[in-house]
Amino acid sequence: MKRLILAIDVYDRERALEIARRTADYLWGVKVNWPLIICSGLDILGELKRVTGLPVIADLKLADIPNTNRLIARKVFEAGADYVIVHGFTGRDSVSAVMELGETIIVVEMSHPGAREFIQPVSDGLIELANELRPFGVIAPATRPGRVAYIRSKLDGGINILTPGVGAQGGNVRSVLKAGADYIIVGRSIYGSENPRESARKLHEEIGRCET
Ligand code: XMP
Repeated sequence: MKRLILAIDVYDRERALEIARRTADYLWGVKVNWPLIICSGLDILGELKRVTGLPVIADLKLADIPNTNRLIARKVFEAGADYVIVHGFTGRDSVSAVMELGETIIVVEMSHPGAREFIQPVSDGLIELANELRPFGVIAPATRPGRVAYIRSKLDGGINILTPGVGAQGGNVRSVLKAGADYIIVGRSIYGSENPRESARKLHEEIGRCET
């Protein structure tokens, strides 16, 4: 099974499309964040979908009032996103506004060191919110496999765990899969490498070895 998601955080449209095309064989999906959307426009979502044939995740980490979340998410889904990432801390009404429009992924904890300050202390409530709303998945930190295992233990079955933080941020594939992650999100270790296709292939094979 494919579990690798490419975080294509480059500015340049052509470079993004080329890297996505070259790595697509080893990916479950492609994740797009603000850097590429700001520089290439929203149409990049549909273009990535066309060149890869894979699901596209718009990692906007929406965190606004319900009406604004809705206004943004509508255009992002219309542009071709299959999933939109939304922050949970703004509350169930803001998250529900996105979920009414399409498949949603809720951030319940983040991978960077500063996540310990404010998000980690409230992640129990965010996990409860996910169990109540039942999104496609939640984001949990590959940099802290112990926290991924904790989130897995509290999260209802059928809700996927997607984990950024492998590679450049220090997380590793084996420990995060063992902790219960369903999908591994990798950016710089693929798009910043000399041979993105080869880097994606190695990660895909490593994931496969961990499953056997
Ligand atoms: P790197 O280059 O570190 O890229 O492999 C990781 C990608 O994932 C995003 N990211 C996160 N997204 N919660 C999120 O919703 C997180 O904790 C988190 N950590 C990293 C990051 O923006 C980049 O696109």
